[in-house]
Amino acid sequence: LTNKELKGKKVIVTAGPTIEPIDPVRYLTNHSSGKMGYAIAEEAEKMGAEVILISGPTHLKAPDGVEVVRINTTQQMFNEIEKRFNGCDVLIKAAAPLDYKPEEVYNNKIKKGNGKLELSFTRNPDILKYFGNNKKDQIVVGFAAETDNVLENGRKKMKNKNLDFIVVNDVSNKDAGFKKETNVATIIDKEGTEKSYPKMSKRELAKIILDKILDNFS
Ligand code: PMT
Repeated sequence: LTNKELKGKKVIVTAGPTIEPIDPVRYLTNHSSGKMGYAIAEEAEKMGAEVILISGPTHLKAPDGVEVVRINTTQQMFNEIEKRFNGCDVLIKAAAPLDYKPEEVYNNKIKKGNGKLELSFTRNPDILKYFGNNKKDQIVVGFAAETDNVLENGRKKMKNKNLDFIVVNDVSNKDAGFKKETNVATIIDKEGTEKSYPKMSKRELAKIILDKILDNFS
């Protein structure tokens, strides 16, 4: 028996990587598969929430009962959240958006020469920071993908992005992070509570995250 404890709540989940084009045949991306975000979207739907999943390119199938909005770039992810943020109760950012994009997108394929190819990059918006700092009564949850000074960097991101809590994962751990079926996480909240969890499936971690959101409502 599942309790529909999130009934009446509108939840935006982001998942997957973003991609930034370089020319008509090449792009920049990262290792995110979308599994973490899709697991959260599925579990939130089971708990009765109205779920909008804003997803970068992935091979995953749309979870039943979830509205999926597909995007490519970080700016597109920002725009799709912006359209819906005022009407939502929760934003969970499990996606891995690219922080940088090529300064110039070439209209034609870049031809190879003999020497080096140099490209410059400009910053993309920090989506989570923007919405964390512009929230009204929404619960805003972030992730931190770290390889070193894991908890310290997680704490900094939580404060800087004005989050309700952050799910910190060490992506250099063989059981955690990109593409894996499992994750190993520490959740740090704005009250300063830090709780570390053992290795578990992304679905189990999704339930823990959603239960913590429920606590924030009550
Ligand atoms: O997709 P999987 O293969 O299942 O892998 C899961 C995961 C490793 C992608 C996931 O568990 C995870 O850690 N997601 C966050 C990845 C990330 O971008 O981390 P970050 O520490 O660089 O960013 C911190 C937070 O800011 C994240 O919530 C991120 O969504 C957000 N962000 C980052 C950059 C940016 N320009 N805008 C953002 O909103």
